[in-house]
Amino acid sequence: MRQKIVAGNWKMNLDLNEGKELLINILDSDISDNTQCVIAPPYIHLSGFKQMLSHTKLSLGSQNCHQQDSGAYTGEVSAAMLKSVGVEYVILGHSERREYFNEDSLGISFKVNNVIKHGLRPIYCCGETLTQRKEGEHFETIRVQIKNGLFQLNEMELLNCVIAYEPVWAIGTGETASPEQAQEIHAFIRKTIAQEYGDMVADNISILYGGSVKPGNAVELFNCPDIDGGLIGGAALDAESFVAICNSF
Ligand code: PGA
Repeated sequence: MRQKIVAGNWKMNLDLNEGKELLINILDSDISDNTQCVIAPPYIHLSGFKQMLSHTKLSLGSQNCHQQDSGAYTGEVSAAMLKSVGVEYVILGHSERREYFNEDSLGISFKVNNVIKHGLRPIYCCGETLTQRKEGEHFETIRVQIKNGLFQLNEMELLNCVIAYEPVWAIGTGETASPEQAQEIHAFIRKTIAQEYGDMVADNISILYGGSVKPGNAVELFNCPDIDGGLIGGAALDAESFVAICNSF
């Protein structure tokens, strides 16, 4: 069964007090039972937030992790450590990581493997740049990102992954892919998975859309047959907007 998921990616925003205030406002609101909401704050807030989220339906996510369990990797955090503080989801391969930290799909595949090994769920991001779309390379770009990042997994492992399609030109720009554009790529991702793993896996994996999702466009996007929710940046920093998006199914 495909799960409906809305994940808030806070990126490098909000200090501890600001973050707690936002989380309290979200927890004070009514969120529909049929949506799995995930909060992905900066690493430093995770362990404190886990306590605030106990006895709630919300899950905790991180925005990245290292591919090794431990070792001399100054400044890094491992999936094992994330698990130990109660994290359930790990966003991997966000386009900002790909662009500013030189991550590529093959490198990210090692992180995916390690996250799966620890029983956490990767939210694997893919998406084309504006130039790639203008040149008609968007389908091939997405196909290669999915293949190189995820196709080392077996069926059961892939079913534990969530995929987020985030066109780079729509992230933080206020420009959203139209529901038709988003649906077209989501269907293509499902078809790419079906060709490798069969229909059962393709039909049961959750694929989220990300890129300037707001309360005003979430309903239309989430109504598309292959869109199972959203990865939300800017609008996740406002409790009212985030909760409205979570309740948009
Ligand atoms: P945005 O970010 O909603 O601010 O466009 C989405 C994301 O980067 O995940």
